[in-house]
Amino acid sequence: MTMQAHEIRQKFLDFFREKGHLIVPSAPMVLKNDPTLMFTNSGMAQFKDFFLGHDTPPAPRIADTQKCLRVTGKHNDLEDVGHDTYHHTMFEMLGNWSFGDYFKKEAIAWSWELLTEVYQLPPERLYATVFEGDATENLAPDTEALELWKQYLPEDQILFGNKKDNFWEMGETGPCGPCSEIHIDLRPEAERQVKPGRELVNQDNPLVIEIWNNVFMQFERRADKSLRPLPAQHVDTGMGFERLCMAIQGKTSNYDTDVFQPLIQDVAQKQGCATARPTKPTSPCG
Ligand code: SER
Repeated sequence: MTMQAHEIRQKFLDFFREKGHLIVPSAPMVLKNDPTLMFTNSGMAQFKDFFLGHDTPPAPRIADTQKCLRVTGKHNDLEDVGHDTYHHTMFEMLGNWSFGDYFKKEAIAWSWELLTEVYQLPPERLYATVFEGDATENLAPDTEALELWKQYLPEDQILFGNKKDNFWEMGETGPCGPCSEIHIDLRPEAERQVKPGRELVNQDNPLVIEIWNNVFMQFERRADKSLRPLPAQHVDTGMGFERLCMAIQGKTSNYDTDVFQPLIQDVAQKQGCATARPTKPTSPCG
């Protein structure tokens, strides 16, 4: 039976609680104490001072689901909303954090375990990207993440990505670091035979999409654009809840999941109009 959205969310929190994480509530979406950010644009925003070493977290491992708004600033999805099936102004980001505790090995192993064993997503449809390095910033390729992914994925399902896609920064200033994204190919099998998913990663295909970003926080971007190494190394992950629901429920649009459908159906009914959206699984993962 298809996993419902509330079960998908709960399984994420239970998984990381079992791995020793403290579960905390979502922070408010309007930030009061950070002049560099107007709205919470990612799960890590409320933890910024922990990464920078300005404050001490309540636990070295934390997980939550955070309401995020991406309508302004560095991470602004506004132009995509309404034009595609997988961006939203407001969305929920599932995240796990390590503050100077575990690093790449555990973060990658647990993301694989959760996606393939708990959520049962097909491994052959998953792709990982790793940072290719950047000479202008004096940053080396992330060969450590590459080697770790090789334990789980064949090499043709691992891709190198540039600074734009694989070096995550909170804003113009703030914590940042190389990241490793996980993408899923939700296209019908026949299409996959014609064109391998790896050719469509980060190419704006609505059925080959990023679902989870694992950031390895190692630097602070300063106002003068330089990178300062952080006092400790941290993990910041963010998984798009609505996209994950689309993949697990076998849909081809976030709006066809039970995150949105009850609301859409209710509004449609109240307006006395039928909806054309399919409600049965339409992608091969469901
Ligand atoms: N901060 C990263 C992101 O928002 C991972 O949580 O993608």
